[in-house]
Amino acid sequence: MGSDSKITNQLEEKYQKIDQDLEDHLEGLLYSKPINYWDYIQIDALLNLQITRTSFPDEKVFIMYHQISELLFKMILSEIEQIAENDSIDAVIFTDKIMRISRYFDVLTSSFSIMKDGMSIEQYNKFRQTLIPASGFQSAQYRKIEFASTELINLIDKRFRDTIDRNSSYDNAFEHLYWQAAGKDYKTGKKTYTLAVFEERYKEEFIRFTKFYEKNNLWSKFKSLPKEAQKDKDLVKAMRHYDLTVNVKWVMAHYNTAVHYLNIGGKTTDATGGSEWVKYMHPKYQKRIFFPDLWTKKEIEDWGTNIL
Ligand code: HEM
Repeated sequence: MGSDSKITNQLEEKYQKIDQDLEDHLEGLLYSKPINYWDYIQIDALLNLQITRTSFPDEKVFIMYHQISELLFKMILSEIEQIAENDSIDAVIFTDKIMRISRYFDVLTSSFSIMKDGMSIEQYNKFRQTLIPASGFQSAQYRKIEFASTELINLIDKRFRDTIDRNSSYDNAFEHLYWQAAGKDYKTGKKTYTLAVFEERYKEEFIRFTKFYEKNNLWSKFKSLPKEAQKDKDLVKAMRHYDLTVNVKWVMAHYNTAVHYLNIGGKTTDATGGSEWVKYMHPKYQKRIFFPDLWTKKEIEDWGTNIL
């Protein structure tokens, strides 16, 4: 009695709801194989995803490290989604989630140098020739993390941020996002192939995604908390930590990696995506800041220089 009949009743109820016979499902259970680790985690699929274009061993490292980064991006997006969809979130849960997201970014930041210090510069500069014109610039999940973290205005290219009409169309805002600078000649409007194919593949998806997140991004969610919660010391500290980790620490780890591989003997090589990467990648130029109101004027002025 007790728990046995309780679970049977619950099962009966579950299948009744969808017009299914419990007996049939129990029979299925009788024949189904027990689960094991490798099937559950999809190990075979996972370990077969490293398809190289050359036979340099370090190309596998390069692919795997990108794949690890994309998996962490997915975990980050999943946490942000939980904040966005929670209509009764309070300062404690908000802080907890932001810190978890930050820890994922901490992993991304510290692991960059682990990859960088092991992967051969010589091999990289050979296999990268087979990747042109692909670039991490085309990571849609990274763009989604940004869209889900702040309002569009904070992602507008620094040169246009103060003058752009805040109520302008999404299309106009999109054309002035900071990352357009990596692949667009603003005078002629001509886009590089890397940027053009990226938009062809993802622009529609970004529009759908942004429709929800323009009101539910982390910054808007924070501002919709009661005034008292917005002053919560732990929450403000967590928000600042996240902003700095993504927009300075990760960006600098990435920039230093690019310098390591693409600036040899003081001579700068073109990136696979073709941007003017030295200027484009350094945080002091773009000053991307998700939560600008949480920083002082001086901290913003110093962004990406001596803020660390
Ligand atoms: C050897 C390692 C790497 C080098 C040398 C490198 C270099 C670059 C360069 C030069 C750019 C500027 C765009 C271009 O012209 O291509 C870029 C953009 C980008 N890369 Fe990497 N990268 C590396 C690893 C990674 C990894 C592991 C990720 C993780 C997914 C990544 C994600 C990105 C993203 C998201 C952008 C766009 C950043 C932005 O718009 O500010 N990169 N990378």
